[in-house]
Amino acid sequence: MMRTTTIILAAFLAAAVAGPACAADVAAGKAKATEVCSACHGENGISTTENIPSLAGQQDQFIQWQLVFFRAGTRKNEQMQPVVEPLTNEDIRNLGAYFASLAPPRGAKPDDNPDLSAKGKQAATGRRCASCHGDDFAGTKAVARIAGQREEYLVKALHDYKSGARSGGGMAAMSDVAYPLHEEEITALAHYLAHL
Ligand code: HEC
Ligand code: HEC
Repeated sequence: MMRTTTIILAAFLAAAVAGPACAADVAAGKAKATEVCSACHGENGISTTENIPSLAGQQDQFIQWQLVFFRAGTRKNEQMQPVVEPLTNEDIRNLGAYFASLAPPRGAKPDDNPDLSAKGKQAATGRRCASCHGDDFAGTKAVARIAGQREEYLVKALHDYKSGARSGGGMAAMSDVAYPLHEEEITALAHYLAHL
């Protein structure tokens, strides 16, 4: 039921993201981001705050979809909700283009637990994460960049999909992926990806 609703909603909202062919204004996106977003998501989209994801170098379409999901209430977060309420579709397009244009976060260095990373790499191969996220985990279109993302945020995101707190786009692909993951796998995957 939840899934059907998500798909219908996604089709309905597609217009907001794909929109009429209207060029995004990166400068306007930057101005908005400096005014509203950087306090939490960090200078140049690199987060230094626990449980707040970096947005730098994130996929344009992924960012736009998440903002649409927050605005529609299908993705819930107390901090993001008041932020997205006043955003127009134009703001969303501009913000997606701006954050996507920034240099992505570099993996946390040095790796304080290479053994855990090795386990994470193995889990990523076994679970075929790269089949959607790409060999370098940079994502594509509505599939998120996960390489170099904050470790504790990756853990939180996987838990949210696993518990159903977040269903996500792409036919709820991530709920299916996360549901069977063991706790040790989640820890290892997050550690591996955060250090790429
Ligand atoms: C008060 C702090 C705060 C502000 C201001 C804020 N955010 Fe967020 N944002 C968050 C938190 C916390 C999350 C993580 C939500 C979760 O855990 O699901 C988030 C998540 C996101 C995500 C999802 C990213 C992902 O990897 O899943 C996007 C996109 C986003 N924010 C964009 C923005 C934009 C654009 C702005 C400015 C218009 C903004 N945020 C302002 C706190 C904030
Ligand atoms: C069938 C395609 C598919 C596979 C396989 C897949 N993903 Fe995803 N992943 C997605 C999509 C689509 C999204 C965006 C979902 C959304 O809108 O929330 C996503 C989002 C995520 C996010 C949230 C990122 C963020 O910034 O909020 C994480 C973390 C993630 N995937 C990790 C993984 C891991 C780890 C694996 C392997 C265990 C994996 N994914 C396998 C399609 C996939």
